Amino acid sequence: MTEIHNLRARVAALEQSAIHQLQWWRPFPFHGQRGRLAIWREVRELWRPEAVIETGTHVGNSAEFFAGSGLPFDTIEIDPTLYALASMRLRSGSNVTLHLGNSPAILRTLPASGLRTFFYLDAHWKDHLPVTEELEIIFARWPNHLVQIDDFEVPGDAGYGFDDYGPGKALRLELIAGLTGASNLYFPSDPSSADTGLVRGCILIASDNLLDQAATLRKHR
Ligand SMILES: C[S@@+](CC[C@H](N)C(=O)[O-])C[C@H]1O[C@@H](n2cnc3c(N)ncnc32)[C@H](O)[C@@H]1O
Repeated sequence: MTEIHNLRARVAALEQSAIHQLQWWRPFPFHGQRGRLAIWREVRELWRPEAVIETGTHVGNSAEFFAGSGLPFDTIEIDPTLYALASMRLRSGSNVTLHLGNSPAILRTLPASGLRTFFYLDAHWKDHLPVTEELEIIFARWPNHLVQIDDFEVPGDAGYGFDDYGPGKALRLELIAGLTGASNLYFPSDPSSADTGLVRGCILIASDNLLDQAATLRKHR
């Protein structure tokens, strides 16, 4: 009985969250953050991605935006209901492939590639944090990578929200320090007070230094 009750509660919560996302955030990639859009425009201009991979499709708000870029685009969702919803929404795009499954497992099945690939890592949810595993796979299999991690702490600007699930499970520099030795790291250059939407923080991790010139980013290292 408790099991059925829990299952019903889970389905109801999921439904509520999906309806909310579709009703209010549908036209807005990156949680409606103007600053993120500006970063993406500079990424396209200066870094010139040839492919995009997103982890955590949810109902497809950012996925619809990336699909519209015309670049080859893969997106990965672990929840079958959300995957089905996003599939209905994105089915017309021939450049788009949706994957159902756990992001690290799916990333391992994608063909390793020398293409300049932009990764949008957003598959953190409740206390499940696949981001370090995702990074290990990306660094090993995509030599030309630019990784944007959503919901990441921006040092010195507490106005940007980030995910913190307790000790060892917060999206901040300490979590990825052991993995990013030779990488170029960037944070948004604009203060959180200038952003719109949900105002979540992010970090960008690049295999080269082409974004040193970006006005929307400040180099951390
Ligand atoms: C914050 S939402 C993503 C929002 C979406 N990227 C956007 O910008 O519109 C996080 C999503 O990640 C999914 N997720 C969580 N863990 C995952 C995993 N290990 N692999 C794939 N998807 C995962 C969740 O089911 C949820 O739909």
